[in-house]
Amino acid sequence: MLITGTTAVFGVIGDPVTHSRSPLLHNAAFAARGIDAVYVAFPVRSGNGAAAVEAARSLGVRGLSVTMPHKDLVAAGVDRRSPAVEALGACNTVVRDGDDLVGHNTDGDGFIASLGAEAGVDVAGLRVVVLGAGGAARAIIDALARHRAGLVTVVNRTLANAERAAALFANGASTSVADAALVSNADLVINATSLGMAGGPAPEAIGLDPAWLRQGQIVADIVYQPTQTPLLRAASTAGAIVVGGLGMLLHQAALQFELWTGTPAPLQVMADALDQSLLEPAKQPIVQKAHRSDRAADWE
Ligand code: ATR
Repeated sequence: MLITGTTAVFGVIGDPVTHSRSPLLHNAAFAARGIDAVYVAFPVRSGNGAAAVEAARSLGVRGLSVTMPHKDLVAAGVDRRSPAVEALGACNTVVRDGDDLVGHNTDGDGFIASLGAEAGVDVAGLRVVVLGAGGAARAIIDALARHRAGLVTVVNRTLANAERAAALFANGASTSVADAALVSNADLVINATSLGMAGGPAPEAIGLDPAWLRQGQIVADIVYQPTQTPLLRAASTAGAIVVGGLGMLLHQAALQFELWTGTPAPLQVMADALDQSLLEPAKQPIVQKAHRSDRAADWE
């Protein structure tokens, strides 16, 4: 493509950021839609998220993806916030609207969209167990509430974190330690813990006995590499429908593209770019904690 004086600039801020697959996805999408725009990675040191928002404002940057560790400071620094950003205090997408910078969070809705696209699942009315209560789990719980899930139980090592996350569910999610009845009765089980190291947690590592998984259930893991985590393997063996983390990564990006351009995202083009990027080694060594690197919510 030809970059000229009219080319709009978008980017991702993170620390580290060189590993990000977002430039590949978004540049492929801009090219496919014939949009005069370019998307680059901005390395922004931890603690400088709000300063980066101000820099984006003065440089006329048209939109940002925001990844670790800036989601909280950016949420505080934007001019207006979507309901998800208000609820979570975390922002993964900045959209320029006139002179205003508006914060959105597409992580939770990206997850919900991936369930629909990959397994035809509508979460409305479902009984859901969410394993984990960190930033990724919170984004998913908030989206489950907005998409009218029936009942959500948060299972987490630290109960205080589970309670804080459960409060995001409008009708009041319950909290629990993993228990057989709870997991067996769930329609949808989601692993959103950060135990993604070495290809995702064995079910036992997150307190889950594989015998609790069953046919007809949907089991999702936000770890995306490998695509079949040990949890998903156990779920497949039990006859459950499984959904990996790649779809969340794809759909959160597609929702960002739509917020920035008002144009439907070219999903297949973005999926192909993502597949291609997974085949290629990252250009630089990944310096972040290894377990963080394979989760959809950590890779805008
Ligand atoms: P993120 O924001 O990326 O989701 P996070 O905020 O560090 O990551 O949250 C990590 C989640 O994984 C939390 O639910 C954490 O449990 P605690 O709230 O008890 O910390 C969970 N987690 C991390 N390591 C764990 C382990 N070894 N066993 C069980 N749960 C673990």
